[in-house]
Amino acid sequence: MKTQDNRRNIALIGFMGAGKTTVSAWLRDNMGLTEVDTDAMIVEREGMAIKDIFATRGEAGFRDCESAAIAALKDCRGLVISCGGGAVLREENVRSLKESSVIVLLTAKPETILDRVRNSDERPILNGHMDVDFIRCLMQKRRAAYEAAADVTVPTDGRSVEEIAKEICAFAFQG
Ligand code: S3P
Repeated sequence: MKTQDNRRNIALIGFMGAGKTTVSAWLRDNMGLTEVDTDAMIVEREGMAIKDIFATRGEAGFRDCESAAIAALKDCRGLVISCGGGAVLREENVRSLKESSVIVLLTAKPETILDRVRNSDERPILNGHMDVDFIRCLMQKRRAAYEAAADVTVPTDGRSVEEIAKEICAFAFQG
């Protein structure tokens, strides 16, 4: 995706329900960044819903699509990239994102995450596991990968989207 904007991309990472989509929309509307959602890219490229990709090709098949989508963005600038919650589990994706993006980790407590995701059945990883214990456990398993990938970590519990987004901008666009 070519834009006239030379700013480094902002890549939002973090667990499902951490607020990536909401923050991304704010950065699009208020900072003029071009919004890209890796899940939406995958749906468009594959012509299939995420849950159908999981059902027919398994998680590994989905992760291959995710890596291809992220690789396709590495020469782009001026984007806010909302990454699927598992995107940074593959080292190659982190390397690819780092070439063009400031990587921002959004965090929230497992209880907050559950509140935000409980009414959706669009996330195959959580289907049948909509409880705080599962979320806490998976979050713990992923924590090291999230932290290793992040240039900055921004908590979201009890904060407005504007507050969160302004903190991100202060970091990403400083100097
Ligand atoms: C996933 C998160 C989802 C989506 C897929 C797998 C994960 O994206 O990529 O269902 O493994 O955490 P969101 O984080 O946008 O919900």
